[in-house]
Amino acid sequence: MIEIRNISKTFDTGDRQFVALRNINLSVKQGEIFGIIGHSGAGKSTLLRCINALETPTTGSVIVNGTDLTTCAPHELQRHRQKIGMIFQHFHLLSSATVYDNIAFPMKLARASKRAIDAKVKELAVLVGLESHLGHYPAQLSGGQKQRVGIARALANDPYVLLCDEATSALDPQTTDSILSLLLDINEKLGLTIVLITHEMHVIRAVCDRVAVIDGGDIVECGNVVDVFLRPSHPTTKQFVSQISEPDDGIAGNNAQSRGTVLRITFQGDQTYEPVLFETVKETGMSFSILQGSISRMKRIPYGQIIVELHGDQRSAAITIDALKSRGLEVEALK
Ligand SMILES: Nc1ncnc2c1ncn2[C@@H]1O[C@H](COP(=O)(O)OP(=O)(O)O)[C@@H](O)[C@H]1O
Ligand SMILES: [Mg+2]
Repeated sequence: MIEIRNISKTFDTGDRQFVALRNINLSVKQGEIFGIIGHSGAGKSTLLRCINALETPTTGSVIVNGTDLTTCAPHELQRHRQKIGMIFQHFHLLSSATVYDNIAFPMKLARASKRAIDAKVKELAVLVGLESHLGHYPAQLSGGQKQRVGIARALANDPYVLLCDEATSALDPQTTDSILSLLLDINEKLGLTIVLITHEMHVIRAVCDRVAVIDGGDIVECGNVVDVFLRPSHPTTKQFVSQISEPDDGIAGNNAQSRGTVLRITFQGDQTYEPVLFETVKETGMSFSILQGSISRMKRIPYGQIIVELHGDQRSAAITIDALKSRGLEVEALK
């Protein structure tokens, strides 16, 4: 759906050149939710602007739905832009227009008929849950409702892809969750490909299938959210993952109380609900205590992480670790 090949972007800032993106390669599949996470200034918005051709990369190509946006003619580019929906942190609504007119705006630009516009606006208003607010003005809406208008407007011309630039960063946690579940819903109902950029790992965890980590204009890590989240390798990725992990200080390293082997055990999918740990220690006869634990969800996949201390000699601990691994659990010895 989207192929980003070797793009770089250099800005001329008067006396010197600033490299905002360096040799970026990414490919986004049809129907997936792809996340790009990075700190402020990492190059996320620049990358997104290259995907909707608001920015021209200095080198490389961006191919969206089979067309190279870096080489196509201006009138063709205009047509493609209409098929790339975008939502923003600060919504960018027309303050003097009603919800109806905000949603209708891109269709008017595309010269759709009044009847087609009316039918589509009403359909989209139902999809985003604003059918009773069509006559309201943006100032009369909450942040979450404004973003719903933004989403409906972005979907007005049946885009190939929806680009989200920090779409939930101005919202409180509860509203963030409701907007994220709306995005999931739209992705599933319409099969719409979504590219989402954020600096918040919980946003990635809630909705994305795959994630790329961008740092100082470079992609430093990329993969399935489950893999990147459970086995981060780059320091920046580890930092993002720690935003949503429980702190384990005092447990793994310097808990004077613990004398046995301390393990971090990770469950995924159906394993999360099965008594795997109990079955294993019953078999190996090892006793243990739980030091910390949590169960959560990555998109729709449940997972759990617990930190346990095994009581007993090293040989029995090694047998228990092997038995846990043979049941498909991920086991990391912390001490
Ligand atoms: N038009 C521009 N001219 C000069 N520098 C720019 C321009 N746009 C972005 N930058 C610089 O590029 C870097 C990346 O910006 P941006 O993509 O907006 O980061 P992010 O969205 O990750 O916060 C920043 O250091 C920013 O100052
Ligand atoms: Mg940005």
